[in-house]
Amino acid sequence: MNILLTYYTRTGCTGKLAECIAKELKSRGHTVSVDRLDVKKRQSKWTLLIRQIHQYPLVGLALFSKSFRRWWQKHYFQPEDHIVSPAYPDVSKFHHVCIGGPKWCYTSYPIARYLNQISGLENQNVSAFATFGGPPLKVLELDLIFMPMSNQICHAGGRVTCTLGLSSNFHELHLIWIFRLLSWIIFR
Ligand SMILES: Cc1cc2nc3c(=O)[nH]c(=O)nc-3n(C[C@H](O)[C@H](O)[C@H](O)COP(=O)(O)O)c2cc1C
Repeated sequence: MNILLTYYTRTGCTGKLAECIAKELKSRGHTVSVDRLDVKKRQSKWTLLIRQIHQYPLVGLALFSKSFRRWWQKHYFQPEDHIVSPAYPDVSKFHHVCIGGPKWCYTSYPIARYLNQISGLENQNVSAFATFGGPPLKVLELDLIFMPMSNQICHAGGRVTCTLGLSSNFHELHLIWIFRLLSWIIFR
């Protein structure tokens, strides 16, 4: 298969995962074109946080109420970042597209912009992958990253056939101790 693997990484974790995926796909005989996205202007980690921190109380509420979560998934505010033009702005010639990035509460801002601006996703099979600092908790981590990504991909006409989420055990904002505590409480 002719596969496009597009990813964004800020601190390198998702980049390492993307390299492993590309290597594995190539070893299985696929042709892989890799597109590493970049932002036009790199913002500080605090700016990234401030752009969405007002939503955190509602994210907390969404963890406890399924019906609110369903509503919130449709109405939360997704920030975006300007990205340098992707190497493949039209992805229609590929048989499969893999798209990955870090979890920034929801979809990372550069990936959200990418999903809004690429063309050719109609009827494409898409795999989504992500890294996050915390443990692989279903609602807090996996659903909060893959539901918004899947919604955007479906909105562009694509079909999510597979997701892969991996904990990097790293958090640039020094919040990793909260996740380690959660991990210890839940998984021991
Ligand atoms: C603004 C921001 C928000 C983040 N939000 C989360 C989060 O909600 N949950 C989590 O586990 N990690 C969160 N992280 C940590 C990253 O998802 C994690 O470190 C990821 O592996 C980084 O990937 P990268 O090295 O490819 O950029 C956040 C990081 C930043 C900068």
